[in-house]
Amino acid sequence: MNTVYSINEVSMTFDLRSDLREITSEYDEKKIFLIFEANTWTHCWPLIKDFRPVPESNILILEPGEENKSIQQVIAAWDGLGKAGADRSSLVINIGGGMLTDLGGFAASTFKRGVAFINIPTTVLAMVDASTGGKTGVNFRGLKNEIGVIRQPKHVFLYLPFLRTLDRHNLLSGYAEMLKAGLIADQELWNRLKIFNLDGYDEKEFGRLIWRCVEIKKEIVTADPEEHGIRKALNFGHTIGHAIESESLRSGDPLAHGYAVAYGMIAEAALSSNLLGLTAGAVSEICQTITHLYGNPPAIIKDQEIMLGWMKFDKKNRDNHIIFTLLEEIGKNRVNLEAGEEEIRKVLVNVSL
Ligand code: GLY
Repeated sequence: MNTVYSINEVSMTFDLRSDLREITSEYDEKKIFLIFEANTWTHCWPLIKDFRPVPESNILILEPGEENKSIQQVIAAWDGLGKAGADRSSLVINIGGGMLTDLGGFAASTFKRGVAFINIPTTVLAMVDASTGGKTGVNFRGLKNEIGVIRQPKHVFLYLPFLRTLDRHNLLSGYAEMLKAGLIADQELWNRLKIFNLDGYDEKEFGRLIWRCVEIKKEIVTADPEEHGIRKALNFGHTIGHAIESESLRSGDPLAHGYAVAYGMIAEAALSSNLLGLTAGAVSEICQTITHLYGNPPAIIKDQEIMLGWMKFDKKNRDNHIIFTLLEEIGKNRVNLEAGEEEIRKVLVNVSL
């Protein structure tokens, strides 16, 4: 393998085509199925094409976008796999952003009770979060990732040249999950991310930062793959973030996941201050860093009824108890903290727009 870094089944490679050839060598070409979204079909397939002569009928191209992270698209994937003759000894390779690796992973995990899959994330968000850890699924009834299973991929390949075609908005969406990794687990990483220049970035340094985030995620997921305890650390910013994202999807003006999480982190940093004594200096450092990169949160965050409504339906919560992962300090989190409605209303209403 042409590995820059690796931990277990995740590796960062500088020669994806030859690594793919090697890892798929145990499969006949007819058993290999590739799932793309339109963008990755156009931009990424040419870079790895011909790693093996996979039949054209084994290539599926799905609709991109969070609004298409639906059971209908899973049915389209099952249909394509079935028609092209996939069976339990097949291998599915998902090539795309977080929506595609979540959806393709779910389609593979449920087809004939489970077919092995490899994830090749093509966005920062998918590299540092969605593609590793085994969470797969789709949105349902407006709720994020409401239907899904946890099933680990056979391998995950990170290949930095795929990021070269991403615009700043897409880079920033993934960068929010990187900031989260620093905030929950590594103050030094946070300090490096705060000053990293995403415009015309240095690919080697970006690769080191991305890899540190992967290490943090792998360490947490290995200790708690089914999310009974410390895996919930990865949910910092996501309780309020998912409410913002779900409402933006419902209103027909979808906000990128990372932006919603970034704004969620601003509100949850304030909650951390009220409930865990995170210092005012840390809260203001987090707010300033995030608003500098992402601008101010959208006005919807102040609509307490709508936000609380979404939070109560979030799968992380039950019986109207709303549960958070919060920060004691930068780099140190605590999971399973319940906040009362009044406490949540207070931080929502006080977010500066
Ligand atoms: N995206 C958070 C997790 O994988 O647990």
